[in-house]
Amino acid sequence: MNKEITKHIEAQLKELNLKGMLSCYRDMAEKAAVNKLSYEEYLSLLLEEEIKGRKERSVKAKIYKARVPFVKTLKECDFSFQPDLGEKELMRLGSLDFIENKENLVFLGPPGVGKTHLAVGFCIKACQAKYRVLFMSTQKLIEDLMMCVRDGSLTKRLLYYSRLHLLVIDEIGYMPITKEQANLLYQLISMRYEKGSIILTSNYSFEDWGKVFQDDVVAAAIIDRIVHHARIFYINGASYRLKNKLKNKTLRG
Ligand SMILES: Nc1ncnc2c1ncn2[C@@H]1O[C@H](COP(=O)(O)OP(=O)(O)O)[C@@H](O)[C@H]1O
Ligand SMILES: [Mg+2]
Repeated sequence: MNKEITKHIEAQLKELNLKGMLSCYRDMAEKAAVNKLSYEEYLSLLLEEEIKGRKERSVKAKIYKARVPFVKTLKECDFSFQPDLGEKELMRLGSLDFIENKENLVFLGPPGVGKTHLAVGFCIKACQAKYRVLFMSTQKLIEDLMMCVRDGSLTKRLLYYSRLHLLVIDEIGYMPITKEQANLLYQLISMRYEKGSIILTSNYSFEDWGKVFQDDVVAAAIIDRIVHHARIFYINGASYRLKNKLKNKTLRG
């Protein structure tokens, strides 16, 4: 290819921000020549590549913005390790109808059984489907709401949270929650009630939430709004984190 033309093409692709085309137009031109593709076929392949790259970058940006603690998919979940989990139902939920229907998912169970992994898996799916998604640990969420109370921006912040299509509230019960904090969570959950999906994870079963929130009434009100339109998964299996450790121990006798 003529050096001058190459320079000219690349400058224009850069100006138009056509990153996908820029990275592949030369290789593709060579392949097009070998395979005797028409100009139209070559252009069509270039455009396809550009669109594919844009979609990938936009999903990546959404996942970054969703603030997931790690990137793991539903497919990476080893259901043979948690046979009671209901693989079929979870995969069906992967169609994300529950987000369209503004329903909630709740994962309850001891540490290490994959609650956060599943929540993240649904976040990734939702990002791919272009939903507005945010993953928050309960602690971070409470810290954020408390800060907004202090600087007078709570209403604005609650509105922001209520506009998300999917909000994950991870690890309810890991840290003690004061009455004031429980009330803030209640406000947030009420605002999203029947307006947007929540995925919630906790080490505690609902009966113990009164203790977690140090207030039976607020706990009951939160549970009521969450479970009204929710699918609840009780995961009672062993910790995946300890899987290999336990195996090694058994092998050693
Ligand atoms: N069934 C599973 N298949 C594959 N990886 C799993 C499974 N369950 C848990 N893990 C992995 O084990 C680690 C702990 O899981 P996590 O979801 O954080 O547990 P939890 O939130 O229940 O404490 C993560 O790295 C997660 O990806
Ligand atoms: Mg977790």
